[in-house]
Amino acid sequence: MRTFYSLLLWALTVGIAVGQSDLFLVPQPKSIQKKSGVLVLKRDLALSCPAELRKDGRLLEELFALEKEQRGAGKTRVLFSLRSELLEEGYRLVVTEKNISIEAGSPAGIFYGLQTLLQTLHRNEKNQWCFPVVSIVDEPAFTYRGMHLDVSRHFFSVGFIKKYIDALALHKMNRFHWHLTDDQGWRIEIKAYPELTSIGAYRGGSQIGPYNDHRFDTLRYGGFYSQKEIAEVVAYAADRYVTIVPEIEMPGHALAALAAYPQWSCTGNSFSVGQGWGVFEDVFCAGNDSTFLFLETVLSEVMALFPSEYIHIGGDECPKKRWHDCLRCQNRMKTEGLADEHALQSYFIQRIETFLLQNGRKLIGWDEILEGGLAPQATVMSWRGEAGGIAAAQSGHFAIMTPGSPLYFDHYQSKNPTEPHAIGGFNPVEKIYLYSPVPAVLSPQESVFIQGAQGNVWTEYMTTEQHVEYMVHPRMAALSEVLWTGPRKESDLPDFKRRVDVHAQRLEQKGYVVAPHFLPK
Ligand code: ACM
Ligand code: ZN
Repeated sequence: MRTFYSLLLWALTVGIAVGQSDLFLVPQPKSIQKKSGVLVLKRDLALSCPAELRKDGRLLEELFALEKEQRGAGKTRVLFSLRSELLEEGYRLVVTEKNISIEAGSPAGIFYGLQTLLQTLHRNEKNQWCFPVVSIVDEPAFTYRGMHLDVSRHFFSVGFIKKYIDALALHKMNRFHWHLTDDQGWRIEIKAYPELTSIGAYRGGSQIGPYNDHRFDTLRYGGFYSQKEIAEVVAYAADRYVTIVPEIEMPGHALAALAAYPQWSCTGNSFSVGQGWGVFEDVFCAGNDSTFLFLETVLSEVMALFPSEYIHIGGDECPKKRWHDCLRCQNRMKTEGLADEHALQSYFIQRIETFLLQNGRKLIGWDEILEGGLAPQATVMSWRGEAGGIAAAQSGHFAIMTPGSPLYFDHYQSKNPTEPHAIGGFNPVEKIYLYSPVPAVLSPQESVFIQGAQGNVWTEYMTTEQHVEYMVHPRMAALSEVLWTGPRKESDLPDFKRRVDVHAQRLEQKGYVVAPHFLPK
């Protein structure tokens, strides 16, 4: 509900500045026919809405209840309806001087129609709340429209996660990839293994400053989400048609888990939760059946919390040294007939995939899961460029594109020397805006396996919520337009710049930090 109050608040302020000559929508709908005239918002709402849409209707009623006393007598008529001929997330929004109608292929489409409607609310010259008379037909280009957030390197509050999800919803994005575990902190309560959080959620210090300086503080740092908090966030996201894809990292990036339960490493040594960034050699032992029992128990609790069909199991950056030196791992390779440690990684992922499939879920992992052979039904998240996504699509596997260039939002977005320290790279808004998720080498038949793309936000160098937002906005707006409206051309950039300038004001009204480089200020 809070979202809608806040959305109205920006619309109010931004509307005054914008007037009605242009709608300044982000992401841009597929088709807009703007006519002259406005619908003036009346005191009462006459909502006609089928049972499935009651939730969205309630949100709208709350929205329209605001500022009631300033509105003229009479009723504003709003009609929601479901139409099977529209795409699942598509909608048709028609505003006349008398009525608002949103027709959609599913409740999600109604929600997206409402998001568009809210962006058009403004005050006219008589200071009345109005919607322009308009007819919009819209649908998304891609089904997976994602944003990721790493909460291991730095931890962010439940309130911030909800605000992040609000930003996804208003950009019509529908997947939040929640990177919940890594070497530097385990962030999700697992009831069967309480030490994952009592030990694994806290580190004794953190690397500070540029990586090559090798400087550390000695402050205890950490935090985790209780299962109750996670359930609350999952429900909050579902109300906004955002599915949360949880990530539990394996077999590498596991040091926080091994600090709590060293028996599932190859050496059994004692470990500390990681304090520096990078990749660590100690990983889950692939030769020990009890490692798998542990991970399956963790994943069972994860599946009970997250309804997402996809469960992300990481799979990236797993050094093979410990497996090479481990008797149990070497024995597993012999008994399973595995040629090398890459084949052992493939065995590991396939065994986890079998478990997820038995539970009605699908495995998704970083592109290293291709090494040694891809699990039969796995989906690949392509981060080391596009090669992994291309290989997946060419072999009939689904893929999500998130190549470091340009979709890592932890890279610099400006060459301004006053920019806060970042991991490196250069991914300005323009580069993201011109990214096309479907590589030209794919045939039309192969291209259907590219489900969409995602912006990744690794937080080694982002210690505060404000800094995360600075790195994300307005790059998220650019990516949302690629994913919703479809791949853009260079000639679309000036229009996007004009719209995003107004859109940035919407975001700032809602309390988001927006990086200024792209904006003509
Ligand atoms: C990754 O950036 N290691 C997926
Ligand atoms: Zn081992």
